[in-house]
Amino acid sequence: MEQHGADLQQEKSSLLNKPQYPNLHVNGTKHVETSPASNQQCAKRRHRFVGAAFISIALTLLLLRPSFLLDMGSGCSGHRSSNRLLRFSPTHTEWVPSAAIDYLSTVRDAVDVDGNWVPIRPDDFDAAQLRRGHPQAKSLLQSVSDEAIKALAGREGYKVGYLDITEAGDAEEDFSSAETEDADGVPYKAVNATAHPEYKALIDMVSVEELKHIVGNLSTGFKTRYYRSYNARAPAEWIQSYLEPLPNSTVTLFENSFNQPNVITRLSPPTAKSTTPTILLGGHLDSTSPIPFMLAPGADDDASGTAVVMHVISILAKSGWVHDKAKYPIEAHSYGGEEGGLLGAVALSKSYKHAGRKIRGVLNVEMVGWQPESGNNSTSTITVLSDPNPAMSAYMKDVVETYVPTSDVRGAYCGYGCSDHYAWSGLGYPVVCIASYGPNDRNLNPNYHSTRDRMESLDFDRMADFARAALAWVVQVAT
Ligand SMILES: *[C@@H]1O[C@H](CO)[C@@H](O)[C@H](O)[C@H]1NC(C)=O
Ligand SMILES: *[C@@H]1O[C@H](CO)[C@@H](O)[C@H](O)[C@H]1NC(C)=O
Ligand SMILES: *[C@@H]1O[C@H](CO)[C@@H](O)[C@H](O)[C@H]1NC(C)=O
Ligand SMILES: *[C@@H]1O[C@H](CO)[C@@H](O)[C@H](O)[C@H]1NC(C)=O
Ligand SMILES: *[C@@H]1O[C@H](CO)[C@@H](O)[C@H](O)[C@H]1NC(C)=O
Repeated sequence: MEQHGADLQQEKSSLLNKPQYPNLHVNGTKHVETSPASNQQCAKRRHRFVGAAFISIALTLLLLRPSFLLDMGSGCSGHRSSNRLLRFSPTHTEWVPSAAIDYLSTVRDAVDVDGNWVPIRPDDFDAAQLRRGHPQAKSLLQSVSDEAIKALAGREGYKVGYLDITEAGDAEEDFSSAETEDADGVPYKAVNATAHPEYKALIDMVSVEELKHIVGNLSTGFKTRYYRSYNARAPAEWIQSYLEPLPNSTVTLFENSFNQPNVITRLSPPTAKSTTPTILLGGHLDSTSPIPFMLAPGADDDASGTAVVMHVISILAKSGWVHDKAKYPIEAHSYGGEEGGLLGAVALSKSYKHAGRKIRGVLNVEMVGWQPESGNNSTSTITVLSDPNPAMSAYMKDVVETYVPTSDVRGAYCGYGCSDHYAWSGLGYPVVCIASYGPNDRNLNPNYHSTRDRMESLDFDRMADFARAALAWVVQVAT
């Protein structure tokens, strides 16, 4: 991991000295273009599929989850289109039947008899064997490429691994041509805590109790925050109601194609013009588990990141810091539907792109509540994900080392589409993400995506260090 660190130090200088962010060098070629099946084909397939499912139901009972049963074929008639346009890499976009996605997620979220999640790494995954394995798999997966099967059924840690750009319409065009933007020509300032004595007043407002309050409400107030569940809207509305009283702020809901909007809180200093670039802080409000329609507490994934973002924007508003010191507007985002392919972030980033909105930087906060040695006051591990913008990652690493010197800062590779920041970077916006650990790390929270991802297993003292790190980043890039 430290090789990443060394790379990052080199890259950082480019961010400081050059007014331009490094280009992404995204290759615009497309890979597979299977056209969406007609509704008739869809109905036929469902027929065959239901028949086959009855025959093999005993065999697959362990793998099946309620969502699979509830959703069988719903893509053909419900609000969710029967085929989804998924982006697995900058050069591979493919239409995949919704029923195939659901089927593959039962493989991805398979649990053993003790209810433990059985991870399947994409590299170790045999797509051909899966095609042969079950009669329904064969018909469902006939049009799906091996690479897509691997990405949908094999999973590394919390990494989602693809962007669902179906509703983003012509977004495929946008995502293909993305180059990292020069947000406004003003490079980030050299990291210097001495130049920001006002930071002390902000971190004095960081409250472990407040983080517990938010994570508690999100993870126990709602049985599940799964984006397709019956009550998926309620946690977004709770977040909205929590943030609405903040002074000099606006809170809006951005509706998604499913019933879980994104929540956007905006603070704008009086000096900012409508063209001034915005700074974004984000985390995803949805959760998942092997029984996502029934129970998915998602305390770490990602109530923890959502709580840090909500707490940080509250501090920035209540302290008057944005009003008095900031040069750039700041937005806090809570995204819906991340677990379905970064859906909320894809839709929102596309709308910003089309509106010509300028973004100075995006900080995503993903799973920051768990540390392997909770219960004593040793250091917090703060992992700065090294991709997809090495210069942004190097800058963040410097910020954390300087402002949160008690923490152990490290880098880790996250991978394409691992979390919401990839939606923004795919459109050329500069991004960085912090987490307790990367998706491939040995110390990754063993409870994530399980029904055991509850707040009792989290370390709120160390989660507070992530709020301190996010505040430091804002203090550096917003002044
Ligand atoms: C950091 O900021 C302080 C106060 O503004 C200044 O005196 C000092 O020279 C700066 N250090 C560096 C390395 O720029
Ligand atoms: C949720 O919020 C309410 C009111 O804001 C508070 O009284 C309650 O203690 C919170 N619940 C948890 C589990 O933290
Ligand atoms: C809110 O805005 C008003 C008007 O600009 C200002 O007087 C006040 O200090 C601001 N309050 C905070 C907490 O930022
Ligand atoms: C505290 O941390 C140390 C290592 O830093 C570890 O060996 C020890 O087991 C931890 N104690 C508890 C109670 O978790
Ligand atoms: C960690 O230290 C802080 C202050 O130094 C203290 O308030 C807190 O109770 C300690 N936490 C644990 C789990 O020991």
